[in-house]
Amino acid sequence: MAIPGLRYAFCSENGKDQHPKRDVTEESSQETPKRIGILTSGGDCPGLNAVIRGATKSALQLGFEVIGFKRGYEGLVDPVRYIKLGRMNTSGILTRGGTILGSTNKGRFSARVGVEDRLDLDPVLLEGVKETFRDLNIAGLICVGGDGSLSVAQQFHEAGLPVVGVPKTIDNDLSATAYTFGFDSAVACATDALDRMHTTAESHDRVMVLEVMGRHAGWIALHSGIAGGADVILIPEIPWTFENVAKKIMDREGEGKNFTLIVVAEGAELPDGGLVTCADGDPKQQVRLGGIGDFVAKEIECRTGRETRVVVLGHLQRGGGPTNFDRVLATQFGAHAVRLIMEHRFGEMITFRPPEITSVPIIDAVSKLCTVEPGSSTVQSARALGICMGDTAGTESPFVYFNHSRGEAGSATDTQTAGKAEKVLGVA
Ligand code: F6P
Repeated sequence: MAIPGLRYAFCSENGKDQHPKRDVTEESSQETPKRIGILTSGGDCPGLNAVIRGATKSALQLGFEVIGFKRGYEGLVDPVRYIKLGRMNTSGILTRGGTILGSTNKGRFSARVGVEDRLDLDPVLLEGVKETFRDLNIAGLICVGGDGSLSVAQQFHEAGLPVVGVPKTIDNDLSATAYTFGFDSAVACATDALDRMHTTAESHDRVMVLEVMGRHAGWIALHSGIAGGADVILIPEIPWTFENVAKKIMDREGEGKNFTLIVVAEGAELPDGGLVTCADGDPKQQVRLGGIGDFVAKEIECRTGRETRVVVLGHLQRGGGPTNFDRVLATQFGAHAVRLIMEHRFGEMITFRPPEITSVPIIDAVSKLCTVEPGSSTVQSARALGICMGDTAGTESPFVYFNHSRGEAGSATDTQTAGKAEKVLGVA
């Protein structure tokens, strides 16, 4: 809690003690060193601490002082709250989940009300942020966030503030980067759940439905579904029907498999349209998704007469430590964010374009959601294995080639022999 009259709350190194130790006058009257600021904003995810550590260590090597703002962008404005980051308080955090700086996806800096809708920041708030930059002598601020949080960073950039972005989200829905850190850890969590559900589903001859997060993108469902050997994967990008899902279950029974694993993304639309949401929520915030798993389970049980259970994984996907992949990615993002500041590449966001860590304008990353391409090789691989994506029962292989000479579809072997193959994307 801030003391009235003091705009600045300088927290102790462990971030727990929040006794204000200085005010504006004290801060601006002394010679302050060149500083890099960092904050984590939006929903947390595994790897945030790895970015904080990566950025701090590389900034210290370059002679910067590093401060971390508390609770995302909120820490930048009255009452300003930050901690000094050093070797001691960033030691041992590489493997730790959450964020030592705290985060919020609510509050005064909500930049979005829905997919791709920008909500402009209050100019008074922006003035407060500028004042903090001046008072604390911030040479560059690293904003670690998802699409909503990076939209705020973009507005800071447009207002002339020296900011750079680092993409984070378990949803993997940011354009311009192959992966965001946090995604691999969420997939690992969902895959582990599927492995566990597999044995119990098989033992009880049950249908089991796993509902995973991901907002309006099906990345977590698709990747965990493939990694966990799911039979049905339902994602927002591919319209699906209950008939196809029910047929898949019955087809499996015909093959002697009396259990079925279904993964459904929280943002998958119901066949008759519409999202399943779990709360009315604040109209200024993004809609809160959740509940489709239950819906699918009930309908499937009704249509097939097979005992069906549902598991909603929820925030387990965001908790815990990062996978090795996410540790490496997040550490690189932290280090390279400092490089962007050194190079004065403000308004840019770090990206992973395998095998390189590079950067793009933040605006390119936030102007469009990155969703699963229905014709992608990953979806095709799923289909090739007979996984039902809900638009068919999963009986046809996508690897059908069109034979121009005969004007008909044939098997891959036919067309390879003819040497005139054209790959048909999706289900032929
Ligand atoms: O964006 C990350 C995410 O975990 C989504 O997958 C999910 O829909 C949402 O955040 C949940 O938000 P909250 O933590 O506010 O419930």
